[in-house]
Order: sequence, then structure tokens, then C-alpha cells
Amino acid sequence: MKRYNAIALILGATFAFSACAENTHQDTFNTQSAEFCSVNLDKAAGQLDDFRQAYTNPKNIPTAFTDGKTKFTKPMGWTSGFVAGNFWYIYEHTQDKSWLNTANQWTHALEDMRFNRKTHDIGFIMSSSYGHGLRLTKEQSYGPLLDDAAKTLMERYNPNIGVTFSWSWGTWEFPVIIDNMMNLELLFNASLRTGDKTFHDAAVSHATVTMKHHYRPDHSSYHLVNYDRDTGLPNNKQTFQGIADDSSWARGQSWGAYGYTMVYRFTQDKKFLQHAKNIVNYLLTHKNMPEDLVPYFDYDAPDDPEVTNYRDSSAASLLASALLELATYVDQTEADRYKKAAMKIIRSLSSPEYLAAKGQNGHFLLKQATGHYPANLDLNSALNYGDYYYLEALTRCKSL
Ligand code: GLY
Repeated sequence: MKRYNAIALILGATFAFSACAENTHQDTFNTQSAEFCSVNLDKAAGQLDDFRQAYTNPKNIPTAFTDGKTKFTKPMGWTSGFVAGNFWYIYEHTQDKSWLNTANQWTHALEDMRFNRKTHDIGFIMSSSYGHGLRLTKEQSYGPLLDDAAKTLMERYNPNIGVTFSWSWGTWEFPVIIDNMMNLELLFNASLRTGDKTFHDAAVSHATVTMKHHYRPDHSSYHLVNYDRDTGLPNNKQTFQGIADDSSWARGQSWGAYGYTMVYRFTQDKKFLQHAKNIVNYLLTHKNMPEDLVPYFDYDAPDDPEVTNYRDSSAASLLASALLELATYVDQTEADRYKKAAMKIIRSLSSPEYLAAKGQNGHFLLKQATGHYPANLDLNSALNYGDYYYLEALTRCKSL
């Protein structure tokens, strides 16, 4: 195994300064930060203990808490793996066997999803459940299940275009959303386990083509690029969950920041590292980034008087987690800047403004996430994936 592959496994396991005005981040990263994160993992364990008592069917997965009601998804839904993932992070923190049992139970409910041919999100589903199961327990039977899932994802790869397509519905010819960057981790890990380079090459191609066609000169990303199968080139570029085709949907920007950081972990290719840094710089210096670093659901929303300015705590938790990984790949000055920003986000999210009191919020952790603004779905909500990346950020911060 090449050295960088070993590093990728370890980091995966746990985890330019601009001339523009940047929020001044008061927090520095130090041992108190790690302690702060550990204490918040303790708190999360308390809340999720109530969660697992309230929701007991691992095939009916709580996905959101909106307007006082819990919404559920079946295993086919893209968010189905995050509850198992949340339990795995709590097990990792507490080392308590009861969490191991709960995490395994919610993971096993997703076993058939390795053959889910309806979505690119098989990566989210399987990596957040079985991926952590394998990482934390070394249970050997989990590897082949993840490899099956990677093979299923590869069926969506088109070598002429060089990307995997996202949705199996709608009228697009070949839709690819920026979120799909996240599913590449499944392919990279399958390549490391099996030695089959096809997975790795497809993931690198997807990241390279996406960098070319999804990104604008200012390093913001379109949400969706619809490709022409014959020419391999984009037909059109648009949004789906943002406010406008040329706007910067916040969670999409975070998927990109996280995605390219992860791709660098597996490739050690500096162009991906530079791209991740460019995205992060765009976000941290954005004129509409709030002082607490929890963005509005679209970075262009504050400029549009027609749009209600909901925050998206899930875009923030994802970004915090990405920043903590990115900080491990850069020089000291940049690392300090990223860790400081990550800590600022974590402290914001851990304040009563965003973190629910025990027993509240349907037993989810974070408030003020935005699911899908244009569809008027899950606004000012709790979302299981927002909680997942919050727990991941706390876990990474605790171990830095
Ligand atoms: N991947 C779907 C979303 O971020 O809403």
C-alpha cells in the first residue's frame, strides 16, 4: 500500500489568505477546544439516548423534525444512513457497548441498499452506516458489502462524460449535482480494499470533470449540470435547491468543500487541494457570511428581498468538518485559519441558538437547518445529516 493510501485510511478514519474582508474569528484552536468538543459529544450522547428510545424501527428512519413533527424515510431515501452514522459517532466517543449494538442494528437494516440502483446517494447511505461499522469494529463482512455498493454506483458512471449521474428521475438527460462529490468516498475506499483501480479512476475523473463544469471563476458552484451523452459536454447548468441558477446554494458549496478535501485525501493531487482551498476561501470571505459563520441557505439570499433568509445549520456543520480535515493538509498559517473558523462554527452550533435543549427538537441535535427552500420543504428544521456532520466535526476536533 502506498504511504499516502495509508494516511488516507487513517485520516478517513477519524477524520491564501484573501484581500476581502473576513470575519474575525475570536476562537483559537487549543486543548480547551478539544475539551469543548468532548463535552458537547457527551451532551449529544444524552440527547441521542432519548432519540433511540423514541424511535425504535431502524427501517423507518427519522430524517427531519419540522414544525413540531418528525418525518421519516425508508432505507431507499438518501438520508437513511445518517442515523446509524450518528450512533457510530456516539459509540466512538463513549465506547459504550450499548451504542455499538444500536449502531449495528441501524446499520444492518440497510444491508439491501448496496443494490439500490435508484440513486447516486448509495455512497451517503452505505458509507455513513457500514463504512463506520467497518472502521470502528473491523467486522470483515462489512467490506464486501461496501464493495457491492461501489459496484452498484459504478453502473452510473459514463466514461464518455467521465462522471456518475445523480438522479434516476426527472427530465434531465444526464443530471449531476455537486452533492455527488460526496459519494466518491465509497469508490476510493473500494479501490483501496479490492485493489481495483477502476473505482479510483472513475472517482478522479468525476472530481476532475466536476471541477471543470460545475465551478465558476469565483470558485462558487452550480448545483446541477445536465450533460449531453453524445458530446460529453454540459447542456445546461441550473439550481434545484438554491434560489437561482447562478446563485450559491449553501449546502452545495459545503458539499464541494468537503468533497474536494476528501478527494485530496485519497489522491494527494495538489490541484484538488488548491480547489478545496479556493472554495473555502470563497465561503469564509463571502460578504453574506454571517458573523457566527452559520450561512443562510443560499449565499445570495440576503441580496434578494423576495427571499426569506433562513439559515442552514447543516451547511455549517459540514463546512466545519471539512475545515478540520483541510487544516491537516496545509501549512501552519492556513491550518490555524481553518481550525479557527471551524471552531467558530462549532461554538455557534453548540450555543442554544442552534443546539436543542435535551428533550426538545424531536430529540435531534441541531435546529435551523434548511432542507429544500424552493419546494418549501423542511425550513427552519432539524435534519439528520446536519446532526451527522456536527458529530463528525466534534469528533475530529476532539482528536486534533
Ligand atoms: N443531497 C441533498 C441535499 O443536500 O439536500
